[in-house]
Amino acid sequence: MSLLFSPMKIGNLEIKNRFIHSATYEGMAADDGRVRDALIKRYAKLAKGEAGLIIPGYMFIHPLGQALKYQTGIYSDEMIPGLKKIAAAVHGHDGRVVFQIAHSGRQTTKELIGRKPKGPSAKWRNPVDFTKPVEMKEDEIHKAIRDFGSAARRAAEAGADGVQLHAAHGYLINQFLSPFYNDRKDKWGGSDENRFRFLKKVVTEVQSALPENMPLLIKLNSNDFTPRKGIVPSLAATYAKWLGDLKIDLVEVSCGSVDFAPFNECRGDIPVDEMAAGFPWWKRPFIKAKLNSWVGKFDLQEGYNIEAAKLIKPALGKIPLAVVGGIRKLKHMEEVIVRNNADFISMSRPFIREPNIVKKFRQNKTNTVSCISCNRCLAAILYHLPIRCYNKGLPLSK
Ligand SMILES: Cc1cc2nc3c(=O)[nH]c(=O)nc-3n(C[C@H](O)[C@H](O)[C@H](O)COP(=O)(O)O)c2cc1C
Repeated sequence: MSLLFSPMKIGNLEIKNRFIHSATYEGMAADDGRVRDALIKRYAKLAKGEAGLIIPGYMFIHPLGQALKYQTGIYSDEMIPGLKKIAAAVHGHDGRVVFQIAHSGRQTTKELIGRKPKGPSAKWRNPVDFTKPVEMKEDEIHKAIRDFGSAARRAAEAGADGVQLHAAHGYLINQFLSPFYNDRKDKWGGSDENRFRFLKKVVTEVQSALPENMPLLIKLNSNDFTPRKGIVPSLAATYAKWLGDLKIDLVEVSCGSVDFAPFNECRGDIPVDEMAAGFPWWKRPFIKAKLNSWVGKFDLQEGYNIEAAKLIKPALGKIPLAVVGGIRKLKHMEEVIVRNNADFISMSRPFIREPNIVKKFRQNKTNTVSCISCNRCLAAILYHLPIRCYNKGLPLSK
């Protein structure tokens, strides 16, 4: 039997195969972040399709850390009854579910959160709306750390099997870790150790909020691909080593940032017209020119984070590693596991199109995913459309 279908543990949690549904924003929650039925259906379907571990889309831990409209919230105890239904839906089909908790930091908009976004430093304008973030004060940093802890407690109360910290893609934890975003001169910046401090404190806070033996996972950037130097694979390996020392249970390797390097994060086609049309008319020529200048530069390469994963793996010792990004062919997945480049194969876009892809693999019905990485699912976010495969085009009414 293929190693891909052999079980493996994350901490004490047994996962029945080596496939992870990587966190994927759904745009399916209510205005205030409460779980709606569409979310429950989506996760029941994915569990039925035999994804070993399911990580739903990122959940915001505080209203000021909301990244997108219709994102799921985990910022208040009132969210717990809805979140319970997601966990139950997955468990009902013998799946395992880990909640990804996130704070957007500077990577959000004033329209959404009602005030200027804050981050570790007031540095670099947002490349789309040109706003500069406000620097977080000491007490705000401590508050954010506590918010991560409270969110983790809620995840456990809702019946999740574990928690993943979103430390990638340019969100708040990534902002602290990255020399690109973090220009602080105090104990939160200035050296790798200082930039790691925020994540370290969050890990400790979350570990003490979680019941014993509940796994803690981290999604980490191997490369920020920011215009100036951010996290690069060697720094990510150092961070991974420090995370190992903190006894976390799995690192998932990703890359890129939503604001500064979206097509590093999600390589493939750039649906220029559909994306540009998602912005106000007066911004469209600028956005279109920018997107056009990227066309052909981010074509999907199979497993584009594997090389970085190879570098990070030894730093983790026995702690398992998952890798995400452009992994599409069964033969390649098998190689990654057999060669011990990673322990888990993580995918996002392929599951949007085929929630039952793992089952299809197991039944020998296919040896590749049918997702063509057209990135229209990504463009759909601009229109607040619920997640699904839009490869035939977006239903645009604008
Ligand atoms: C529509 C969409 C939503 C996403 N939402 C999240 C998210 O909530 N959290 C996260 O860590 N990554 C998110 N990602 C990134 C994916 O998890 C993954 O890292 C990336 O798509 C590369 O993997 P893939 O080639 O298998 O799609 C999202 C990607 C897409 C396309």
